[in-house]
Amino acid sequence: MNGERLDPWGTIEIKDYDRLRRVFGIRPFSEVIPRMRELGLPLSLHMRRNIIFGHRDFDKVILEGLARGEKIAILTGFMPSGRFHFGHKLTVDQLIYFQRELGAKVFVALADGEAFAVRRLPRREIIRLGIEEYVANMIALGLDPDKTDFYFQTNRGTPYYRLIQLFSGKVTMAELEAIYGDVTPGKIVAALTQAADILHPQLEEYGGYKRVVVPVGADQDPHLRLTRDLADRLHDIAGLERPASTYHKLIRGLDGGKMSSSRPDYTIFLTDPPEKAVWKLKRALTGGRATAEEQRRLGGVPEKCTVYDLYLYHLVPDDNELLRIYRDCRSGTMLCGECKTMGAEKLKAFLEKHQEKLEEAKEVAWSIVEPPRF
Ligand code: TRP
Ligand code: SF4
Repeated sequence: MNGERLDPWGTIEIKDYDRLRRVFGIRPFSEVIPRMRELGLPLSLHMRRNIIFGHRDFDKVILEGLARGEKIAILTGFMPSGRFHFGHKLTVDQLIYFQRELGAKVFVALADGEAFAVRRLPRREIIRLGIEEYVANMIALGLDPDKTDFYFQTNRGTPYYRLIQLFSGKVTMAELEAIYGDVTPGKIVAALTQAADILHPQLEEYGGYKRVVVPVGADQDPHLRLTRDLADRLHDIAGLERPASTYHKLIRGLDGGKMSSSRPDYTIFLTDPPEKAVWKLKRALTGGRATAEEQRRLGGVPEKCTVYDLYLYHLVPDDNELLRIYRDCRSGTMLCGECKTMGAEKLKAFLEKHQEKLEEAKEVAWSIVEPPRF
């Protein structure tokens, strides 16, 4: 064992996340946990494990709304530009928790406008991916299709588009450039459209006023800052209020870099054939030592390990089991070979069960989401 602080819920980059939070004025999520306990609200797995590390106005907007019995909503959006992977699952798990445990209304934007303008993908492919990859996987994971409003941005209707038009009159080029760097017409429209995604659940036409929370990776905070400003500027005209947001640590890819559809060898997709996923996991970067002897003596470093990340985020829901794995790794009792064999079994079991539900979920997906005509 070395002398570092032992924190089974932490990851290697925790210091960076703290700095990031301070730089942007994001509050630590831990500060709202006592209030959640007071209100008798269960914590989600990712809240308990400090993966959700920050928030803006979660107490003021969401917890106070719940305390007063007011309606709340959670909203997120996905660009349907690649396959659905374990990074996406982290967000969807949060939607499911809000739907089941907190009674929130769920909205999911399929950002087809953004994918067309920014990623330049063919329309047919965007629409197919939106339904068969994103919506289908979300339903198979347990999001209730009867209680979730999935929509394509380009299909959303007049009041939503009215917001985008009005936003365009309330923002300057200098602000957009400060937030997004070099902007193009596509990026500007995508940013204003994302603000409409986040704020439109407050409108009469979409079920009446609700307090809204948006769960994002910290990299998405610029969108939230723009959206908060737009809510202030449209407050008197449209009755908009600022949204709350929560911030999660992104799961790393299997080489320790970014998990992304564009890096398929280091990213596990929920539609990967189980053998293929296991092959990826077997080659993953761990926190193991150079030799078995050294690892028995010094122990492994789970904070550096991408296999441990999979356990922490997704594959080991039981906290006691996770703590046991953490200790066996740190003490050198368990070596990486044995650990990966266990991980492979867990991953295979998860994917097999998930994929059994996927065919039916695809049919449901096509029946509940209206694809744009062109
Ligand atoms: N821009 C987001 C992305 O690149 C997708 C998105 C669209 C979104 N609308 C949103 C995310 C609303 C959160 C909330 O993935
Ligand atoms: Fe990672 Fe397991 Fe190796 Fe520890 S023993 S470094 S958790 S693979």
